[in-house]
Amino acid sequence: MLIARTLSDLRAACTGLRRHADALALVPTMGALHEGHRTLVRAGVASGAATVASIFVNPLQFAATEDLSRYPRDEQSDLAALEAAGCALAWLPDVATMYPAGEATTITVAGPAERWEGDARPGHFRGVATVCAKLFGQVRPDRAYFGEKDWQQLQVVKRMVADLLLPLEIVGVETVRESDGLAMSSRNRFLSAAEKTNATALITALRDVAAGLARGEAASPLLAQARARLSGQGFTVDYLALVDGPTLAPLANAAPGARLIAAAKLGSVRLLDNIAAG
Ligand code: PAJ
Repeated sequence: MLIARTLSDLRAACTGLRRHADALALVPTMGALHEGHRTLVRAGVASGAATVASIFVNPLQFAATEDLSRYPRDEQSDLAALEAAGCALAWLPDVATMYPAGEATTITVAGPAERWEGDARPGHFRGVATVCAKLFGQVRPDRAYFGEKDWQQLQVVKRMVADLLLPLEIVGVETVRESDGLAMSSRNRFLSAAEKTNATALITALRDVAAGLARGEAASPLLAQARARLSGQGFTVDYLALVDGPTLAPLANAAPGARLIAAAKLGSVRLLDNIAAG
């Protein structure tokens, strides 16, 4: 596996990879890699593309109140995980390479970036959209892989790529879960053993609502019951909502392409999850 830390090394490595592969795939990450990330890399490799994974803890998507310094970093084990998953090139820019002095452009997506995580984390999606646009410009991939785990992020990136006519395809990959259903996340390491067991209540709640909707029950009482049950189980529920998948607009009833999305805090850890509901 090649490793690039400067733009000139990246350009040389990508040019070399392009000589032998029909396509380049990109998997953007912030490191602390787990099976969810590795699945994205394997999807790129399985598509026949030479697969590039970036590791960059992006300061622009963290609010001042969020602890950027607490974000887990473990470059050596991340590189070993990428290599084992078949990654061809690891792109490890530093902050000065990603955001050189004098830059004056950021990307603000409206539509799907409004509400939910957009409300909870002002400026977050501006940071995500900006760094993704820069990664796409740096690596120039034919396609980029994103997890459905961060459903709203996936829709924001798809919207940006469509609106700016960026020449790549965005591929969504199903959420990878622990055997008990908990969605894998770099934040799970901050859960105590008891909290980790408790945390499965979030996906259980989403699945219960989806089952009720499939039986034709009304969404609003199902959602209210699920929120109340989670609160009773020690969660602070930020939102648990039925939305249109691509636009994230709230829905009163299940419809094709609908999604159930949730964010809830357990102890100090904010958990996100979502499932299809249509
Ligand atoms: P990060 O949280 O490291 O996630 C990198 C990618 O892995 C994202 O596309 C995310 O949705 C995906 N992912 C995380 N957990 C997953 C799981 N359990 N199953 C499937 N995919 C999963 O998301 C980011 O980084 C950043 O915002 C980034 C896009 C890199 C921009 O900085």
